[in-house]
Amino acid sequence: MTENTRSFPDWETLYKNQEVKSMPWYNESLDPDLELELSKMKIKKGSFLDLGTGPGTQAIKLFERGFDVTASDLSPTSIRKASFRYNSKKNNKIKFIVDDIINSHLCSNEFDFIFDRGCFHVISPEKRLKYTEEVHRILKDGGLLFLKCFSEKEPMRDTGPYRFSYDMIKKTFENNGFKVQSIRETVYQGTLNPLPKALFVVISK
Ligand SMILES: C[S@@+](CC[C@H](N)C(=O)[O-])C[C@H]1O[C@@H](n2cnc3c(N)ncnc32)[C@H](O)[C@@H]1O
Repeated sequence: MTENTRSFPDWETLYKNQEVKSMPWYNESLDPDLELELSKMKIKKGSFLDLGTGPGTQAIKLFERGFDVTASDLSPTSIRKASFRYNSKKNNKIKFIVDDIINSHLCSNEFDFIFDRGCFHVISPEKRLKYTEEVHRILKDGGLLFLKCFSEKEPMRDTGPYRFSYDMIKKTFENNGFKVQSIRETVYQGTLNPLPKALFVVISK
């Protein structure tokens, strides 16, 4: 079945014109599904990329837990605002960089862990292969991708982010050099009510 192409805001215009706290994905706490997984897997240190960091809330929480954090986004304004908000207090310890994951300038084998909370599900189907290739390239061997994306159980099917089934996730990643370690149904914390239905996936390289 082919997916309908969805339209998304121009990210740069959005971050220029809107206060991040009013964005649907804004969540000051560390994502609870990531928190649970880190605790279950006893992961306490290493290099983390917060991919599509937007407001930067997840990057700061990971940094506060002692990870070595890089935060990337294709919107220069989101990066400028997040860097100003956090690095002014934190002594420039988080590396905030403008980077498009579809044509990434990040180094190969750079990260132990990548957190993608909402970037993958706004990438169009024809660019997903490139996404998986780039994520595979920048992740170290044995590294983990923690992925949060909308679930096919989330209604309003023609608007908002792409929706995914377990099968779509497995096909997308396992055909491209990854192993899906676990998938579970959850919600996407943010400013919407009710919270959208989501998947939380742990994927290894
Ligand atoms: C739904 S928001 C999630 C933001 C953040 N991860 C969070 O949880 O608050 C998706 C983010 O992905 C970024 N994005 C979209 N396409 C991207 C791409 N090709 N490369 C890097 N970032 C991208 C957008 O600018 C936006 O900040």
